[in-house]
Amino acid sequence: MRGPFVITVDGPAASGKGTIASRLAREYDLPMLDSGLLYRAVGVLATRAGLDLDDGEAVARLARGLKAEHLGDPEFRTRGAGEAASRVAVHTPVRLALRDVQLAFARRPGGAVLDGRDQGTVICPEAPAKLYVTASPEVRAERRWKQLKGQGEDVPYAEVLADIVRRDERDGGRADSPMRPAPDAVLLDTSELSIDGAFDAARRIVEAARARW
Ligand code: DC
Repeated sequence: MRGPFVITVDGPAASGKGTIASRLAREYDLPMLDSGLLYRAVGVLATRAGLDLDDGEAVARLARGLKAEHLGDPEFRTRGAGEAASRVAVHTPVRLALRDVQLAFARRPGGAVLDGRDQGTVICPEAPAKLYVTASPEVRAERRWKQLKGQGEDVPYAEVLADIVRRDERDGGRADSPMRPAPDAVLLDTSELSIDGAFDAARRIVEAARARW
């Protein structure tokens, strides 16, 4: 029996995966989980609580108490939140604390779109449609720089690029659920693509997967 139609969209920061995932969710009328938001919330709330982000057990205790109503804070979209998220995400107890909510989403009978780093590899390896969205670090840094500027965070481009490179290394180098494409994911490099171009390419990949589903 075929399982729910789940689309996983993994990839590094500012690759365009969030935009692609939310447009796919609209296109196919599926609910979307932004799993990065869970890690961002934990990172910010742990920082506010004065916890040491390197203390996996203490951060995991906070993560176990995370509620859906905590997720709307605009501070979770800031540069500092991304960095804190990436730091807390290296700890296995933190990842386990956030696992059930992600698994419940992945098993929704009507299907879902899951956005993150390990959705196609760890959370829903059985997903019928998997994308791994990338772009060069320079292109991603430029996109992130413009986005931050639009939010009123004026950070030098070189710093944004350094952030991106450091985050790629941490997210891809950790032992538990490192960021990487699932063996059956289709790679989509958006470096040279507009938002519409990237979305069209993503939709073609999903259509091909749906035809096989
Ligand atoms: O997608 P994002 O930029 O909001 O993610 C923020 C950080 O959270 C990312 O650098 C690593 C972590 N993360 C993760 O480890 N696993 C996920 N599925 C999603 C995010």
